[in-house]
Amino acid sequence: MTMPEAVTVEAMRDKVAAQLRRARDRSTTLTEAVDEDDLVRQHSKLMSPLVWDLAHIGNQEELWLVRDVGGREPVRRDIDELYDAFQHPRANRPQLPLLSPTEARTYVREVRDKVLDVLDRVRLEGRPLVDNAFAFGMIAQHEQQHDETMLATHQLRTGPPVLAAAPTPPGARPAAPEVLVPGGPFTMGTSTEPWALDNERPAHQVHVEPFFIDTTPVTNGAYAEFIAAGGYDDPRWWSRDGWAHRNRANLTAPRFWLRDGDGWLRDQFGVVGPIAAGEPVVHVCFYEAQAYAAWAGRRLPTEAEWEKAARFDPATGRSRRFPWGDEDPGPEHANLGQRHLGPAEVGAYPAGASPLGVHQLIGDVWEWTGSDFHGYPGFAPFPYREYSEVFFGPEYKVLRGGSFGTDPVACRGTFRNWDYPIRRQIFAGFRCARDASREERG
Ligand code: AVJ
Ligand code: FE
Repeated sequence: MTMPEAVTVEAMRDKVAAQLRRARDRSTTLTEAVDEDDLVRQHSKLMSPLVWDLAHIGNQEELWLVRDVGGREPVRRDIDELYDAFQHPRANRPQLPLLSPTEARTYVREVRDKVLDVLDRVRLEGRPLVDNAFAFGMIAQHEQQHDETMLATHQLRTGPPVLAAAPTPPGARPAAPEVLVPGGPFTMGTSTEPWALDNERPAHQVHVEPFFIDTTPVTNGAYAEFIAAGGYDDPRWWSRDGWAHRNRANLTAPRFWLRDGDGWLRDQFGVVGPIAAGEPVVHVCFYEAQAYAAWAGRRLPTEAEWEKAARFDPATGRSRRFPWGDEDPGPEHANLGQRHLGPAEVGAYPAGASPLGVHQLIGDVWEWTGSDFHGYPGFAPFPYREYSEVFFGPEYKVLRGGSFGTDPVACRGTFRNWDYPIRRQIFAGFRCARDASREERG
């Protein structure tokens, strides 16, 4: 969110309180939609029970805002270990002596009451953790990140649908399928965005060779052609690791696609219906994205290419906060914030396009990039190594841009997500890129 220097302390406190409230409203919606049984059940080995996420949200808020920033007595001193994500893998969490749904709700409410009192009294300057209310912004983002995780748990849940949302707006395919992004340096990352997390920092110059990038994410219709062409059965399109995984996991289509005669249906939050050909494909892993791109004679963009396509303004040479400019995302720019329960058709957000005409970089689906997750030159862990640094390395691939399940507070042109290349329960799709040939470079 924008935090110009002229903003008064009072206005900053109001913004923080509003962001915390929005996050809590969403956590409440996601946890009240199901009964107690569903809250404590593990819907997939990949996910925590929803009641774990809820109490973990409260526990992180207590650690950072009640105890650290506020210097207050703990709300509960007995549960830190239970809700430490590094102590217990997700698969083991249902066996832990977790707080019951009622206890978890009481806990998060008590923590929040103390936090609002801390927010009223603490000076929002003088140490890096509180400058620009950073720790509060980090915690609002943390809750929203878990709200996206809880939405993914809802997608894995079986049973009648419990969530509802407005239909997505119609799309109109952009005239050009791909655009040329000029080569040369651009500014990647940020040193000025007040609530940017450690892995987005610092701003640094990166040189990129000229390349073409798709103006839209790859659609279900295009992906279905890859399937129909036998793409899942042809090792030529798959990397070594990808082919091994395809065989081990017996992949034949995106997750949540169901065979229906010689066509396909999909299950979206318990609603089974036709595949919308014009919507971005979602629930594919990195290896599937890579295989599709190879079949199409293309490749995934690198993380730097993705960010240049999303932020570089060729008229000024400057990097924008978002593809459309520096304003925070509005509903006309992007499908974010769980306003809809799925991606919108390609071309549905022309107001959100980049100066070069690349659509839907922000929102709809997270986009796999070809890059491993590493720290930028000059990276410094802040405020804790376990947010990003412990994940740096070749086992994780970077995803960019946010999905329909991502809140705007946790989505920026610089925001970096990461996951294992086999993961499909996240709201991830992709777009393709290719090198520009010598003649095309102009
Ligand atoms: C940035 C989405 C990979 O969910 O593992 C939540 C965010 N970090 N709690 C995750 C996060 C700590 C993280 N991702
Ligand atoms: Fe967390």
